[in-house]
Amino acid sequence: MSWNVSDRQLAALVAEMTVEEKAAAVSGHGLWRTAANYRLNIPELLMTDGTYGVRYSIDQIDGMQDDDGQLAAFLGVVNTDLSTGVESAFGSTRPATCFPNGSSLACSWDVGLAHELGEALAAECQAFGVNILLGPGINIRRTPLAGRSYEYYSEDPMLSGEVAAAVINGLQQNGVGASLKHFACNNSEVQRTTMSSVVEERALREVYLAGFERAIRKGNPWTVMSSYNRLNDVQAAESHWLLTEVLRHEWSYDGVVVSDWHGIKDRPASVNAGNDLDMPESGARKQELIDAVKDGRVPAEALDRSCLRILKLVRTARNAIRPNAEVDFKKHHALSRRMAAESIVLLKNETAVLPVDAAKVGKIAVVGAAAVEPVIQGSGCATTRPTEVDIPLDEIRRLAPNAAISFHGATDFEAGSPSEQSALAAVEAADVVLFFGNTEVGYDGEGSDRTHLSLHAGQDELIGRLGRHSGKIVVILFAPDAVAMPWIDGVQAVIAAFFGGQGVGKAIADVLFGKQNPCGKLTVTFPVQKEDIPGYLTYPGENGRHVYSEGIHVGYRHYDKRKLAPLFPFGFGLSYSTFEYSNISTSADRIDASSTLRIAFDVTNTGGVAGKEIAQVYARPHNSRLIRPIRELKGFAKVELRPGETKRVEVTIDSRDLRYYDPAYRQWLLDAGRITFEAGASSRDIRLEKTVEVAAPALPSTILDLESQPYLVLEQDFARRRFHDFLKAQLDLDDEEAGRMMEYCASSFLGIYKTVSWVAGEKISKAAMASFLDNLNKEIGETVSKAA
Ligand code: BGC
Repeated sequence: MSWNVSDRQLAALVAEMTVEEKAAAVSGHGLWRTAANYRLNIPELLMTDGTYGVRYSIDQIDGMQDDDGQLAAFLGVVNTDLSTGVESAFGSTRPATCFPNGSSLACSWDVGLAHELGEALAAECQAFGVNILLGPGINIRRTPLAGRSYEYYSEDPMLSGEVAAAVINGLQQNGVGASLKHFACNNSEVQRTTMSSVVEERALREVYLAGFERAIRKGNPWTVMSSYNRLNDVQAAESHWLLTEVLRHEWSYDGVVVSDWHGIKDRPASVNAGNDLDMPESGARKQELIDAVKDGRVPAEALDRSCLRILKLVRTARNAIRPNAEVDFKKHHALSRRMAAESIVLLKNETAVLPVDAAKVGKIAVVGAAAVEPVIQGSGCATTRPTEVDIPLDEIRRLAPNAAISFHGATDFEAGSPSEQSALAAVEAADVVLFFGNTEVGYDGEGSDRTHLSLHAGQDELIGRLGRHSGKIVVILFAPDAVAMPWIDGVQAVIAAFFGGQGVGKAIADVLFGKQNPCGKLTVTFPVQKEDIPGYLTYPGENGRHVYSEGIHVGYRHYDKRKLAPLFPFGFGLSYSTFEYSNISTSADRIDASSTLRIAFDVTNTGGVAGKEIAQVYARPHNSRLIRPIRELKGFAKVELRPGETKRVEVTIDSRDLRYYDPAYRQWLLDAGRITFEAGASSRDIRLEKTVEVAAPALPSTILDLESQPYLVLEQDFARRRFHDFLKAQLDLDDEEAGRMMEYCASSFLGIYKTVSWVAGEKISKAAMASFLDNLNKEIGETVSKAA
């Protein structure tokens, strides 16, 4: 079972292996395993999907299959709709708990709960003999249309990284490895294995890579999965910059990089780039690698390095196996309900239509097929065969045993149908109408993006129509990500359940009847219409290239800068209670590059019921050398409060998280000046603020050269002083003359060399000016490094 080998023995094993054996060791065996080596007694590893449940395919994992059969089996899963959990399309997948999907769970903003998810998934993996779970997935939800957004956490990297680190720690502390995926910029399913995500470096660093960096720093996943797409025109699995320079050199990651399934196109290039493991097994790719090592295109050391990393992973995983592990699936079902309850977001509650008083309500009309077939998950490789599914209508009946409850499918309202009049009469007579809506099933997951933000099959129209027959409409939505709500003004309440897993039916009923006070908040912005989505003008790319034209202004950063009113902002969610914020303080009034700042404030429950509030802290920089978003999330806390209770909330922020990336200096920088910290209930509901001073070197806005306009040299004291001395020395001037000359040059639109030559009559050589600027840049660079 376990594999007790020392580092020295592992190195000796690699030394003893033939090239063929090494190529086998860095390749999969079948769909889900690494290759054992019986000659050298090296055991194998088993991995499987997914991000919110364990998809253990009995055929694929326990059965023997040829290469063709395996590909068909793999594609079969990705392309089949398995989302509702009540179909029998699962074939021979083992039942496992279907927890809330990523876009749902993240709305809990609860890292403790994310840790529990990791623990529960680990327990199921241990029971099934799975060593590595292929999750979590944390690509930024750049557009709500993205096919895999249901698996991912947020449009914000800080929140994504925090949730991911917790899931990873929950898994790995219980002996199951994580695979943090998909690295990087797999933000759309359109031509997903060929499209190049064209992303400027600041956006990459500050948004798309930042969540991975955080999750790796705080969770150290055993594996990182490279993504299918190309990144700035290089296949991610073959990008040396991404997999070696950034991941290993800058972030010191020492685990295994595994490819996405059949994601590698050029195996030798992928080994050279640092992609260790090639999944799943491909005879052709193995042979390409062997040939490339033999003719020197892949250095022997590169193959040895990957081989050793994989053997270390095998050792870690084998020694973490918990023999005879058992799962309490009933307990996990209860956990899935609790998670769903913590994650549901109440978006609207006019005239306090919710919660419904089960003791008083007379008639309830439940509308929509999703009330009996809840959409509990998206479709794709993550799809889990649930152990059981809570049906919302049953749970509603259970909680309101004395109410007269009628159920109507959407077809009951078809114009001219025999049922139309009675269905409308039931809606009119009901004390409350519960409309269960959903996006199109099977078109909400892996392999394709949505093309619109509408609900499925005329549901938007139907909600609009019902709003004219009742003033008590509650819409409950199952959706992977944001949807548009053209009917919003005609309904009284909206609940976003996302894809809340197998316990979501009970969780919804608990929220409807006030047994659970809703406390989730959005982790993405809901746009009014798809045209408002950041990057809309260049989505989904053309000719194989998808330019991320919004740059660093992803999600709320875009809506804030453009002053666009969203349908619902990032961080928004209602409660049956109300909360007040007061008394903000910071542990210091002045910070520098190495500070840790504590921001504290009081939150009071001013409503009549106990509840939880997710308080958010944003940073708003005042003085920026480079373009910055208006505000960015830097911390959050979820507090539970009884009516009337006050708690002091404290959020800790490291200066490193306040920096931005300057590609010219290749550095993370903090600007001198001021930063305001905002505490609020959402990104558009800031309640308190406090400003601190930042001690940092003042830098010119760019690297200087002969063509730099003079104001760029003169804008900042330090460079200005150097330039002053340079002019004095070169032109033999006194202080006053040099000062006058600088004033004279300051407004020129020509480069500094041409300007000075013109003014001083070509007395300064080009070489002298170039060398002055070079030295100045170097001196500034050193100041920057020291301060970083
Ligand atoms: C998906 C991965 C998944 C793998 C194995 C790929 O198509 O992109 O997320 O882990 O298949 O099923």
